[in-house]
Amino acid sequence: KEQEIAKIYHVNELARDFFHACLTKTNYGKPAREYLANRGIADEIIDFLKLGFAPPSWDKLSATFMEQRGIAPDILLKAGLAAPRNSGDGVYDRFRNRIMFPINDVRGRTIGFGGRVLDNSQPKYLNSPETEIFNKRHVLYGFDIAYQHIRNLRQVVIVEGYMDAITLYTQGIRNVVASLGTAFTPDQARNLIKLNAELLFSYDSDAAGQNATVRALDTVRTLGATIKVITIPDGKDPDEFVRKHGSQSFQGLLESAKPLLDYQLDQALKSDDYSTVQGKIAVVGKLAPILAEADNAVAVNAHITRLSQVLAVDESALRTEITKYIVQTK
Ligand code: GTP
Ligand code: MN
Ligand code: MN
Ligand code: MN
Ligand code: MN
Repeated sequence: KEQEIAKIYHVNELARDFFHACLTKTNYGKPAREYLANRGIADEIIDFLKLGFAPPSWDKLSATFMEQRGIAPDILLKAGLAAPRNSGDGVYDRFRNRIMFPINDVRGRTIGFGGRVLDNSQPKYLNSPETEIFNKRHVLYGFDIAYQHIRNLRQVVIVEGYMDAITLYTQGIRNVVASLGTAFTPDQARNLIKLNAELLFSYDSDAAGQNATVRALDTVRTLGATIKVITIPDGKDPDEFVRKHGSQSFQGLLESAKPLLDYQLDQALKSDDYSTVQGKIAVVGKLAPILAEADNAVAVNAHITRLSQVLAVDESALRTEITKYIVQTK
């Protein structure tokens, strides 16, 4: 078993170098090079992150490259780099005609890949499947290179996508990791909280990103971290924002990030019409459990005052509702 795991690491490394060579050294890699250049990814970054290109072929990796190196198809299957053919024996390459982003563990070992199409076809991104070494619940893209910066700054910017993380990193915001679109998990959170880091969520400003933010906050709010939320005012995601407005502007967003409670209050106030009694009840119903759980009495008090004004509801009524959600421990 241990030997098998060592082999899986090894083929991931081989594949990473293969994809990187396909991107940087071949004729058929040219469209991929152009794609990355158009998105402002410099050659040094391509080398630093070992970005790659999976050729538009069914077997260049598995049959041609790996077979020549004596790698059995079985290990390619276990590494998630190949899939079994539907009819007959053998395997075919999982990643074809895609820009390849190696995903590393915190020690920098490649454990999986994300692959992006060069056009608008679907799925836009294809990731490695779960393997013995690639566990999506744990992995944070960019964690290996951001690790020291997160420790030093005691702060981490969490973005959705590969390109968001790469752009922020190369623009000098190096304490950045990407949660890769999937729901942010407690395991991912714990890896960051261990470093004493404040969590700054900077997801896309579209509906999907905002919903993902709400879910992420729900996942992390009980884990004892300091949490803040950045809202991208213009454009869609951190990558596009920074390209348009520069990293100084993004620093500004970081500095004005909203504490969790403020964000949740604003969200609740946005979603309901609280001019009616029903609307007031709905907003208070959402916020009472959140305020009951919050541990900073000063912040809670300030929010109660503000809510009372905005909703035109007595503070005492708000307190009564909040008290209903305070968990009795004795
Ligand atoms: P670009 O268009 O390259 O800028 O990508 P993006 O990161 O802005 O994409 P998007 O906001 O749509 O998605 C955010 C992240 O979710 C991506 O970086 C991926 O990690 C993941 N994701 C997006 N689309 C897919 C998909 O079709 N399949 C899978 N498995 N993941 C996806
Ligand atoms: Mn190179
Ligand atoms: Mn998105
Ligand atoms: Mn994007
Ligand atoms: Mn995006």
